[in-house]
Amino acid sequence: MSIRKIIGIDLGTTNTRVYDPDKGVVLNMPTVVAVNPSQRRVVAVGEDAIKALKQNEEDLDIIFPLSQGTINDFNLAQALLEYIIEDYVKWKIIKPSVFLSIPCGLTDVEKRAYKQVTIASGAVDVKTIEQPLATAFGLGYDPLSKGGVLVVNIGGGAAEVAILSYGKLVRFDSTKIGGLFFNNQIIRSIKKDYNILLSSDTVENIKRDLLSATNSKSNEKLSVTGINLRTLLPEENSISGFDIFSYMRYEIDRIINMITNIIWQTPPELIPDIVENGIMLSGGGAIINNMSDRIKLATGIDVKISKEPLLDAISGIGIAIKNWDNYRINDSSKKEWVL
Ligand SMILES: Nc1ncnc2c1ncn2[C@@H]1O[C@H](COP(=O)(O)OP(=O)(O)OP(=O)(O)O)[C@@H](O)[C@H]1O
Ligand SMILES: [Mg+2]
Repeated sequence: MSIRKIIGIDLGTTNTRVYDPDKGVVLNMPTVVAVNPSQRRVVAVGEDAIKALKQNEEDLDIIFPLSQGTINDFNLAQALLEYIIEDYVKWKIIKPSVFLSIPCGLTDVEKRAYKQVTIASGAVDVKTIEQPLATAFGLGYDPLSKGGVLVVNIGGGAAEVAILSYGKLVRFDSTKIGGLFFNNQIIRSIKKDYNILLSSDTVENIKRDLLSATNSKSNEKLSVTGINLRTLLPEENSISGFDIFSYMRYEIDRIINMITNIIWQTPPELIPDIVENGIMLSGGGAIINNMSDRIKLATGIDVKISKEPLLDAISGIGIAIKNWDNYRINDSSKKEWVL
C-alpha cells in the first residue's frame, strides 16, 4: 500500500469539491477567489470570498477562475488549488498526488496546462480524468464489465454529453450552456421586460422554483424584489413560470438536441446497452424541474439520476482513486481512462 497521500479534485466552473480517500468528500465550495486589486493579492477563496464580498470588507474583485467549463485565469486557478492543497493536506509531510477531473474534448496542450497548474499549486503528480467518465463512475458505472452508457452532465459552465464503452469515450459533445448561462439569460430578460436588476441569489431562487424543462411551471408565480433601473429604488414584481420557460426554452432545446444527436451518431451495437443502462444524468442542471422527464420524452430511454447529482463527479473520482490498481491490473487500455 502506498504511503503517498492522494486527493481527488473536481474543479467545476461554479463549485469545487475535494475527495480524501480516508474521509470521503471533505470540501465543497464555490469556485471563486477574492482579489485585492490595488495590492494584487488573493485575500480569500470559496465561501470566505463570497462572505468578504457581502461584508464589503475591502475593495475587492470577486473572480471565477473558470468560465464555461474551462480555466480562463490560470494564476487564480492556481491560487485556489494552492489553498486546497496547502490547507487540506498541510499536516502531511509528503506532497499529495492529485486526481483532477477535466472537461472532455481538451487538446493535449490544454490537458498539459491543467496538469501544470496543479503541479505549480503543490501537487507532486497529477492524473486527469474526463468529467463524463468520473460522473459515470459516481453513478455506478463499471468500465470493466459494462458496454455502452450515455452520460449527460449539465454543470454551471457547460453541458457535456458522452457515450462511453468499456471506459473509453467513443462519442462526445459539449456546449457552453450551463447554470451560469441560464442565470445571465434570466437577468438579461427580466431587465428587458421588467426594467429591474436582480441579485444572483434571487436568480438562483427563480431558477430552482420556476424553471421547468417541460413548461410544467407555467402557471406558478414568484414574487421577486430587484432594483428598478429608472428610479434606482427597490421594486417587487411577480414573475411567472411561463416567463422563465420562454426565456430558456431555446437553451434547453439545444441540450436536448445535443443528446439526440449523440444517439444518432452512436454505433448500433452500443444501443442495446445504453437502453439497458439508461441515460446517466448529472450536475446541477440535472435537478432542473422535469429535466429527466424531458430527456426521456425526447429519447425514449430511461434516465438515471443520483440523490446528489452535484457530487457524482467527485464521488466518481474517489472510485477511480480506490480502483486505480484494480483497473490497471485488469485492463491494458487503462491509460485511456486516466491520463
Ligand atoms: N435545483 C436547481 N435547479 C436548477 N439549477 C440548479 C439547481 N441546483 C443547482 N443548480 C445549478 O447547478 C449549477 C452547478 O452545477 P455543478 O456544481 O454541477 O457545476 P460545476 O461542476 O461547478 O460546473 P461545470 O461542470 O460546468 O464546470 C449552478 O449553476 C446552479 O445554479
Ligand atoms: Mg462539474
